[in-house]
Amino acid sequence: MADEQHDTIDDLLAEARTFPPPEHVTRDALVTDTALYDEAAADHEGFWARRASELVSWAREWDTVCEWELPFSKWFVGGTLNVSYNCLDRHVEAGRGDKVAIHWEGEPGDTRTLTYAEMLDEVQRFANVLKGLGVERGDRVNIYLPMVPEAAVAMLACARIGAAHSVVFGGFSSQALADRIDDAEAKVLITADGGYRRGEVFPLKPAADEAIAHTPSIEHVVVVKRGGNEVAMVDGRDHWYHDLMETADPTCPAEPMDSEQLLFLLYTSGTTGKPKGIMHTSGGYLTQVTYTAKYVFDLHPDTDVFWCTADVGWVTGHSYIVYGPMSNGATQVMYEGVPNFPGNDRFWEIVEKYGVTVLYTAPTAIRTFMKWGPEEPAKHDLSSLRLLGSVGEPINPEAWMWYHQYIGGGRCPIVDTWWQTETGGIMISPLPGVTTTKPGSATFPLPGVVAEVVDDAGERVDHGGGYLTLTRPWPGMLRGIWGDPDRYRETYWSRFPDRYFAGDGAKLDADGYLWLLGRVDDVMNISGHRISTTEVESALVSHPGVAEAAVVGATDPTTGQAIIAYVITRGGADGDGVTAEQLRAHVAAEIGAIAKPKAIFITPDLPKTRSGKIMRRLLRDVAEGRTMGDTTTLADASVVEELQRRAAESPQED
Ligand code: WTA
Repeated sequence: MADEQHDTIDDLLAEARTFPPPEHVTRDALVTDTALYDEAAADHEGFWARRASELVSWAREWDTVCEWELPFSKWFVGGTLNVSYNCLDRHVEAGRGDKVAIHWEGEPGDTRTLTYAEMLDEVQRFANVLKGLGVERGDRVNIYLPMVPEAAVAMLACARIGAAHSVVFGGFSSQALADRIDDAEAKVLITADGGYRRGEVFPLKPAADEAIAHTPSIEHVVVVKRGGNEVAMVDGRDHWYHDLMETADPTCPAEPMDSEQLLFLLYTSGTTGKPKGIMHTSGGYLTQVTYTAKYVFDLHPDTDVFWCTADVGWVTGHSYIVYGPMSNGATQVMYEGVPNFPGNDRFWEIVEKYGVTVLYTAPTAIRTFMKWGPEEPAKHDLSSLRLLGSVGEPINPEAWMWYHQYIGGGRCPIVDTWWQTETGGIMISPLPGVTTTKPGSATFPLPGVVAEVVDDAGERVDHGGGYLTLTRPWPGMLRGIWGDPDRYRETYWSRFPDRYFAGDGAKLDADGYLWLLGRVDDVMNISGHRISTTEVESALVSHPGVAEAAVVGATDPTTGQAIIAYVITRGGADGDGVTAEQLRAHVAAEIGAIAKPKAIFITPDLPKTRSGKIMRRLLRDVAEGRTMGDTTTLADASVVEELQRRAAESPQED
């Protein structure tokens, strides 16, 4: 890791280009001076309290802005609100019911348009459906859906009645779904027959069936019809969404919820095999996502068409498809499918078709577009775009420049937004009307966020590399790990006293700009998705033919990192009939296709220290084709030579 960081730092030091906000942006931008920064620096809690009262509608005002008992925070304590009221009713009441909330584009080319009034109607009905199935305030509901509007409807319906949703990305396997349902003890599962991906229907209900065969807590399953594929329905347990909606009562008043009412759980990978159920509550989270969606994307709800290309199964989809944009009453695009169906220009066709003004996507997607070439965006009129965003992993300066030039036409500012499932909303980012950007830097903490880089000893670093920490509580911060307060404390608050440690390396340049340097723990970042090495290792060793496995994330030009696995089989060097292909399929079945190793090397041995610890650094060196550094601590140095030989002989690619 140390070597890799050095490479990154060296590259970044060469980056001297700067981009001040262009005049056409500052003319109409919501923020054009440092007033918000000054206000937050002068009075942290007062700053957030003013945002909460300006941006969120409360049924009852809070008594206390923040209760902070490190590491547990509560925000707007005593206040009550309804999150779905904030995202829907208040816009309709203000006469904006006919405004489009979602322009939905199905992958095959079918479309749906939902206004705020229509969304409100659907959400009320579905909230009543959930109540009819016995869902009560405080219950958990699992959602396992493709990118269809019903995903947003289901989430908002849960919020309306005070049930917490736990969305599981549709690409996760039945096993991963079952683990998450069990941990949350969810009562109801909302899924679909199937969804579209790369021109074909992928079945979801069969995976859901497999999962709930092992999850005693699920009482009912609601199935959205999307793929049209044949599915089995269990009488009394399984119900079609459209059948239930047809007879549902159309009114379900938004009841005020406590500010600290659990809004959702979202599972994310940590450094152990068991995913963590990150807890987010209502008032603070909504304040943070409404504030960041508004100012980072400089949202002008009357004219903007916002498009966040994430899936609702990830936190980016929660905060910047559902809650942030809708709380602001914005119009957005929601797209079901992949960027290369039917052609490599699908995204640009969508931008042109809907007149997208603000596009929020991931570096891995940008690097893929770079591979496909500038001729793809050139086929379309992208002049509606005025602002671009990036999220999920460090964006390399080359990708930044390409995005700026070929997508933004050289005129759109880029907001590189750093945040995490745990932070709830964006933490470090430029504000487009004030911040001079540098390609590859997330620039500065937002007003209201206090971040510091520290060295190994926890001493503050003002210039140079170290670890990114957060030193003040913020309203959207996680409230804990579901069912495991000790793990919460241990994971985020034990490495440096009194600081939240994010798990990311970062450096500050001479101008005080922050540059993110990637994860410093055993969490990989594959195409912007967090996957822990331990999780993939556990999946591999759960195969009967595998004795031992070591997994590393190796630098990959497109996906940021790629999963490389080294496996010792029970049968010895030749795998006793176990093939790399079988093991890849096994990992896909255990976790999901996103966790499938790019390459698996079957090896007689793994490099270990004398105390028996696997030397991941060496494995990364092998995977990235570097010559070996110091192997003197190795138990058996010849292992590495053998691995290199195998790596050279058997390249495996997707
Ligand atoms: C990484 C996604 C550099 C980081 C919102 C973080 C980034 C992890 C950026 C969280 C960025 C996210 N620059 N790295 N702009 N945004 N990351 O929980 O390593 O899926 O810790 O949340 O993604 O991933 P998560």
